[in-house]
Amino acid sequence: MERNKITIIGGGVLGTQIGLMCAYVGKDVTFWLRSPGSVERTMPKIQRYAELMRADLLKAKTLIGSPMGKFVYPRGLIRDWDSVTAEEIDALAAQAEARFADSIHVELDLAAALADADLVIEAMAEEPQAKIAMYTAMKDLMPEKTVLLTNSSTLLPSTFAPYTGRPEKFLALHFANTIWKNNTAEVMGHPGTDPEIYQEVVRFADEINMIPLQLHKEQPGYILNSMLVPFLSAAQALLATGVSDHETIDRTWELATGAPAGPFKILDIVGLETAYNINQMKPDAQVEGSVSNRIGKLLKEKLDRGETGVNAGVGFYRYK
Ligand SMILES: NC(=O)c1ccc[n+]([C@@H]2O[C@H](COP(=O)([O-])OP(=O)(O)OC[C@H]3O[C@@H](n4cnc5c(N)ncnc54)[C@H](O)[C@@H]3O)[C@@H](O)[C@H]2O)c1
Repeated sequence: MERNKITIIGGGVLGTQIGLMCAYVGKDVTFWLRSPGSVERTMPKIQRYAELMRADLLKAKTLIGSPMGKFVYPRGLIRDWDSVTAEEIDALAAQAEARFADSIHVELDLAAALADADLVIEAMAEEPQAKIAMYTAMKDLMPEKTVLLTNSSTLLPSTFAPYTGRPEKFLALHFANTIWKNNTAEVMGHPGTDPEIYQEVVRFADEINMIPLQLHKEQPGYILNSMLVPFLSAAQALLATGVSDHETIDRTWELATGAPAGPFKILDIVGLETAYNINQMKPDAQVEGSVSNRIGKLLKEKLDRGETGVNAGVGFYRYK
């Protein structure tokens, strides 16, 4: 079935981006927020991401005809880069403005937010108990048709399925930050997910201009983080044990593989706070002298100096 009425639970970084992306393609979007304070915090975020999307759209006009264009255009905003014209991009920007104004609603009443939802995307903070409480509160408020998705980065859908009241219509759809540019959507069911619902979600991801990446079974970290986390850990170990400096490590990777960014540039984008939290979960992080312990100390020193990455203007590198 067509899934046009979308409810987003949580108005944080990812929730607002997902909601905007859905509205951009013409879906009707309701954000459920838990308090008037959340509304005050969420509205400027929606505004800010809407402006960033618009700015990236307009910037894309300058990339038309450039050989680099196809690598850097905002893939979630322009479906067919090869044939797009400047006039079409202007029309997309105008359409986005109208849709953001007309199709985005905010609701504090959970029952009202869910009453007619075709699809609900949970994008609350990564706290398992809070998510379980939310699913429990939602389960009798959703109509039978509702498909329920989690955007959780680290928690498995099977952990939450028993609390949803609809395990067969529940699975994970995992987006990446700045989804209008980095438009991946990892689709991951749990053993009880109905395969037809799974395929419907694959189609939904495509409809909202994401590139659906299908996992055939549950995997902590999905595909991307299963590769990225060990890669970034290996780079940090080379630095923390004094094998080389961050610039040489990045250059080695970039020159040898042709990748545009080495691990420390990626770490700056991810944010060193996240890198630190991931490192501290390693079993030997508290063992004095272990590699993880040394990585933790190195990152903590940078965090204490406010060098948290691109968003702070300085991480391993300085940014204008
Ligand atoms: N930030 C990323 O790069 C990223 C990428 C992919 C997936 N995710 C996942 O998306 C989810 C949200 O992450 P985020 O980065 O947007 O977080 P965030 O901290 O920016 O936003 C979390 C939102 O959840 C709300 N919230 C927290 N506790 C709540 C509760 N008890 N009841 C109702 N609302 C509550 C907060 O008010 C906030 O609006 C997490 O599961 C995270 O793993 C994040």
